[in-house]
Amino acid sequence: MIKFSNGHAFEYMTASGALGFDGKGWPWERPWQWLKIFDPTLFTSVTKTLTLQPTEGNLRWYNPLRCIRLLHGGVVNAVGLSNPGIAWWCEKIGPSVDSNKIPLVVSIFGEPEELAEMPRMLDRFDLVGLEIDASCPNTKTDILHNTARVIASCKAVKENSRLPLILKLSVSHDIEQIVKEVENLVEAISINSVSWAIAFPNKKSPLANFGGGGVSGKAAQPFTWSLIEKLVTSTSIPVIGPSVWEFDDIEKVRKLGAKAISFGSIFLRYPWRPTLYVRKDKGIKTWWRLYFSLHFF
Ligand SMILES: Cc1cc2nc3c(=O)[nH]c(=O)nc-3n(C[C@H](O)[C@H](O)[C@H](O)COP(=O)(O)O)c2cc1C
Repeated sequence: MIKFSNGHAFEYMTASGALGFDGKGWPWERPWQWLKIFDPTLFTSVTKTLTLQPTEGNLRWYNPLRCIRLLHGGVVNAVGLSNPGIAWWCEKIGPSVDSNKIPLVVSIFGEPEELAEMPRMLDRFDLVGLEIDASCPNTKTDILHNTARVIASCKAVKENSRLPLILKLSVSHDIEQIVKEVENLVEAISINSVSWAIAFPNKKSPLANFGGGGVSGKAAQPFTWSLIEKLVTSTSIPVIGPSVWEFDDIEKVRKLGAKAISFGSIFLRYPWRPTLYVRKDKGIKTWWRLYFSLHFF
């Protein structure tokens, strides 16, 4: 369990990109909710990342497979930061956010000067936190290797926001240096996907035309989970553990020292599993749990 300075406490999170811009799911995920197979109220949700200006990225809504591929035990994506921009979000989504129903964290990306502006635009909405995406493997910026920029980003957001901050890092960052500097700025650390070149150095990515993409899910566990261990030994900032694929992974991630669990690419492959696993973890009985385990997986 992670408890923020504003009182919000959570154990289960949905990762940025998993459930759209409002934490309720992408349009194609809505039927799962109607069937009660996915229950968004069980999670603290992180929105798909927003930038100050609209960003085209690689996603085309008419053909998501252009930049997302299922792997054996995982997903590789090169979506990039496709999003309609923060002004769109403030007009269309922000007013209906109700964190009593679905606690929402907004994920933001940009240069430190842009990141200083964005929290002010978000201030009037009912959010429980902000997440700084400092680790998208599908951008052409230097954010993965520019430690000073990551630290400046945290300072810029903190100075302009009353909300608790989550910093999203990746295996490519200089962890020791960053955590030393952000100890008093961020209240949790989350973990991003792993560049294809790191996960599979000797194999060509199916998304090589987009730079290879980021690997998540089971295929990313050796990397994301060793990052949990590294973070836990280097900082007292609570870590949110990713890459859960099977029910037992929840306990494995906890044993590594994570204080909360995030569900990301598992939603693409097995949309019902996060709800099923959380209910099972909390000891809540579900009729369809039995149904699915007997008939499908
Ligand atoms: C299709 C897709 C889109 C994603 N979009 C974002 C994003 O906009 N911002 C972000 O910080 N992470 C994004 N991610 C990364 C996830 O939030 C998560 O950090 C990553 O998948 C690792 O967690 P997992 O192994 O549990 O999936 C995306 C991942 C996928 C598969």
